[in-house]
Amino acid sequence: MANHKDNGETLHEHQEVYQRYPLVPVHGIPLMEPIVRSWACVENFEARPDDLLIATYPKAGTTWTQEIVDLILARGDVEKACRAPVYIRIPFLEMCSFPDFRSGVDLLMSAPSPRVIKTHLPFQLLPKSFLEKDCKIIYVARNAKDNLVSYYFFDRMNLVQPDPGPWDGYIKKFMEGTVAWGSWYDHVRRYWDERANHRILYLFYEDMKEDLSREIQRVKNFLEVDLSESVVQKIAQHTTFQAMKANPMTNCEDVPSTVFDRTISSFMRKGEVGDWKNYFTVAQREMFDADYQSKMEGTALHFRDVL
Ligand code: A3P
Repeated sequence: MANHKDNGETLHEHQEVYQRYPLVPVHGIPLMEPIVRSWACVENFEARPDDLLIATYPKAGTTWTQEIVDLILARGDVEKACRAPVYIRIPFLEMCSFPDFRSGVDLLMSAPSPRVIKTHLPFQLLPKSFLEKDCKIIYVARNAKDNLVSYYFFDRMNLVQPDPGPWDGYIKKFMEGTVAWGSWYDHVRRYWDERANHRILYLFYEDMKEDLSREIQRVKNFLEVDLSESVVQKIAQHTTFQAMKANPMTNCEDVPSTVFDRTISSFMRKGEVGDWKNYFTVAQREMFDADYQSKMEGTALHFRDVL
């Protein structure tokens, strides 16, 4: 959740405002209905030239990348990165407000520069000022089947997103792009193509799993931050799956059970590549892969562990 109470009350007092919101299209992209209600504030958001966007399709490794970026900017100061939950340190641009919660836009308007901003918006829905100001963007992509599995478990435990329904039907919703934030295929492809026009660093979850230090190096180079090898190693140690699962500032443990039902799934669930093999039947895989090939035809964007 991007919103955070800062007046000392607990979220539980307002559990009645939480419900599984329907999705409503904005320029054809399904978004949670309360986000759509405050869409004008997002659309007209005023970016600053030194803003950094972390853009992802949901469940691609956003939180992981947020923590890495925050630690790079803090020059590896782990205590500094523990100053607040990750969703406060790096607000969620399009997340709406609830009765006593500040929206992502509201949090960002009072945040000092340089701001780091999380978004799941597909490229075409980004507020125009990010592009006009030529802001840097870090995009993280994850292979479709693992992304889908992760999203399925998240939609089950996240009580403000639509009920995912049965697994088989969810696969089809994902393929059709009728889940929140729309089509995975369009999302990953468009940011890939826009590398030619904008300052976009395109990362892969699978590369981060393979060699985290190497990918941290890439991020710090993109951010033009000078760090010694030992600081890079320290950041890598602090951002392993196990470290982040144990860290209350990254594992969302303060989000109440009226929003995240941890009896269904944890926020830091498994953090693996290839977990899809535990859920897809052979028939589901064949159907998914055939559709994947047609949707991804003609792109040079390739993922590992796709087929
Ligand atoms: P799983 O559900 O497959 O475990 P997001 O932050 O975009 O919501 O992505 C969540 C996914 O990233 C979850 O995947 C989560 O476990 C995984 N993740 C979070 N931190 C990670 C880390 N440090 N290393 C590997 N995976 C991580």
